[in-house]
Amino acid sequence: MTIRVCVPKEVRAGEQRVAMVPDVVKRLTALGISVSIQTGAGEAAGHGDSDYTGADIVSDEAALYASADILLTVNPLSNEQIEQLKPGSIVIGYLNPYSDTDRFKRLQEKNISAFSMEMIPRISRAQAMDALSSQASIAGYKAVLIASTLLGKFFPMLTTAAGTVRPSKVLIIGAGVAGLQAIATARRLGAIVEGYDVRAAVKDQVESLGAKFVDIDIKAEGTGGYARELTAEEKAQQQAILANHVAAADVVITTAAIPGRPSPKIITREMVERMKGGSVIVDLAAEGGGNCELTQPDQTIVHNRVKIYGPLNVPSTVSGHASELYAKNLLNLLALLVKDGKITIDLEDQILKDSLVTHGGEIVSATVRTKVEGGAK
Ligand code: NAI
Repeated sequence: MTIRVCVPKEVRAGEQRVAMVPDVVKRLTALGISVSIQTGAGEAAGHGDSDYTGADIVSDEAALYASADILLTVNPLSNEQIEQLKPGSIVIGYLNPYSDTDRFKRLQEKNISAFSMEMIPRISRAQAMDALSSQASIAGYKAVLIASTLLGKFFPMLTTAAGTVRPSKVLIIGAGVAGLQAIATARRLGAIVEGYDVRAAVKDQVESLGAKFVDIDIKAEGTGGYARELTAEEKAQQQAILANHVAAADVVITTAAIPGRPSPKIITREMVERMKGGSVIVDLAAEGGGNCELTQPDQTIVHNRVKIYGPLNVPSTVSGHASELYAKNLLNLLALLVKDGKITIDLEDQILKDSLVTHGGEIVSATVRTKVEGGAK
């Protein structure tokens, strides 16, 4: 029997991305895989139904879910969506593994094999499937453009007949995938850029992009390449030094995250109050509560003439390329799952093993199982 991959229209409010682009349909059909797309699924990402050559366009949502051997999504499925799935089928997408435990119980009960894109390991072999990276890179790029439109200044130095305009100073806090892309983008726009991170390993990367590294002598490498939480003493040391750099910046972009934990609070009210009028903070960590004490998710607030914006779901605002890269991440993951026209979940493969959350009627991810058993919400 031919494997059928199905792609629904995303239901999250305001979501503009889609898990499939026309180019990837061609690649899947060439492998003998059938593809069904829900009517209008690609509309907000710039793809009309007729662009998906080779795919079946399905208007009946229930029929789409019921026919899926593999369902590809961007956002976590709602309980209603899970109900419509065929028992024994596969779901691949963002699943929000650190919360929403109810969803995993339902996936388990329905005997769905669910792969969480958030749990793809950060190893070299997995880079082509790493949606956290592809989407973070987009967020970092867009954060700089957002900041540039909120700021009442140019980024580059400009010599004009009326005088010379000094370049803006941009500080990027958290130099992971999003932060490094933000540094590169701000440099391309001609700003003077500083980057800061608690992982000392990124110093060279920051400098290679033409930015200055703010060295605070705190080394907080955690497990899996991620940062660990700082101690109270380290936080105080960080804030004392960082405050001067924040005060000097026209734009601060924050991207600092600790997986599964609320975002660390790095910019205090006092630090904001030392910033120049007209300065801008774009807090990419708003989804996890924000890196700035004053951030209000999805809002721009003005405090002491400083604008603080905590945008949500930034990759969705670059829906064309975000969907393209995400769909390619999924395609690369599917290549591990589908061999010779058959679905094989090889649990010896670290990528599949680490990202598989529910399988065979069990919650197989230890991290998620602990959360579910602990009753986390
Ligand atoms: P992230 O989104 O989890 O965090 C963003 C940045 O914030 C990180 O660089 C982190 O060190 C920093 N941060 C956390 N707490 C902070 C604090 N209190 N103050 C200042 N900065 C703070 O990170 P991302 O971008 O997802 O990358 C995490 C790791 O994964 C990195 O080591 C990266 O090199 C690695 N990675 C590996 C890949 C692969 O080999 N497949 C692909 C992408 C990333």
